[in-house]
Amino acid sequence: PTRQDSPLYPVLENAAAYYRQQLRQHAQRKRAVDYLKQRGLSGHIAKLYDIGFAPPGWNNLMGHLATNSSEEKLLIEAGLVVENPDSGKRYDRFRDRITFPIHDSRGRVIGFGGRVLGDDKPKYLNSPETPVFHKGRELYGLYEARLQNRQLEDILVVEGYMDVIALAQHGVTNAVATLGTATSEEHLKRLFRLVNSVVFCFDGDNAGRQAAWRALQSCLPVLEDGRHVRFMFLPEGHDPDSLIRQEGHDAFRARMHHQAQPLTEYLFRHLAEEAPPDSLEGKAHLATLALPLIEQVPGSLLRRLLRQSLQERTGMDLDDLRPGPTPTASTE
Ligand code: UTP
Ligand code: MN
Ligand code: MN
Ligand code: MN
Ligand code: MN
Repeated sequence: PTRQDSPLYPVLENAAAYYRQQLRQHAQRKRAVDYLKQRGLSGHIAKLYDIGFAPPGWNNLMGHLATNSSEEKLLIEAGLVVENPDSGKRYDRFRDRITFPIHDSRGRVIGFGGRVLGDDKPKYLNSPETPVFHKGRELYGLYEARLQNRQLEDILVVEGYMDVIALAQHGVTNAVATLGTATSEEHLKRLFRLVNSVVFCFDGDNAGRQAAWRALQSCLPVLEDGRHVRFMFLPEGHDPDSLIRQEGHDAFRARMHHQAQPLTEYLFRHLAEEAPPDSLEGKAHLATLALPLIEQVPGSLLRRLLRQSLQERTGMDLDDLRPGPTPTASTE
């Protein structure tokens, strides 16, 4: 079967319905509901994001959805059931976790994220790559963002499921998350088909700051003139979820509008930390780092402005330098 009519879609849809039902009916539902309440989520938002509960136990989903081995094989192919390669034993992948269905752009369930209710590890489990689920392509919350907004003007890219959902809970309904992978050029192409403006808002920790710089690098090859990318840097220790819960919608919006840094500013600020242009050596170093990045930008006006800015920062006439290669497609 082609990806279009894969038999995995109904299986995944049935799993989402099962987890949803367990959140309403399971004997231990209160633990799950209390957890969601404690994270500040309303029933309305839980419903909107179709949050569910995978109950404790090894074969709840399997027992519910499969009556024979070929149905079990479909569950394995869908990433919902795991088969131990040595013993051949099969068991539910998501156990005693809050579940977050991941939808494709047409609203079909293609995978799940699952969070433990407490402090166990790993904190999050994600569906593996399957014939219908490709992490480097999909963005969590994009379907829901489009449902909630007739016309999206900008999209906020955050790290986690709970960031997307907590933001929506507070009225910021345009957030999406990458699925435990780095932001890829493919993610960005998909976003820029919908909006001209993308704002990255990663966690205020080292991992978040590193993710921001990697995201900048993925953005360069898709920076056509007219596209805007900005970066929000959160106070140390905060993520969008914790911050919007602490300071509320208005302060978070104000931050987005006033503190988000244009990509070009971030680029020079970051490079100047590594190569402070306060000596001739520093200036040469800065140019060495900046030129190969600038040359990736396909927008010819922006590329020219970036070169001009580098010229001002280094006092160097860049025409003297060997012109870098013209931008080509992805290097990934
Ligand atoms: P975080 O650890 O920042 O998650 O990881 P979070 O959303 O802030 O977690 P809580 O619920 O508030 O405590 C960000 C994202 O990285 C992926 C998940 O997609 C998560 O949402 N991740 C994290 C994993 O895939 N596995 C993990 O064990 C942890
Ligand atoms: Mn609020
Ligand atoms: Mn983090
Ligand atoms: Mn986080
Ligand atoms: Mn968090």
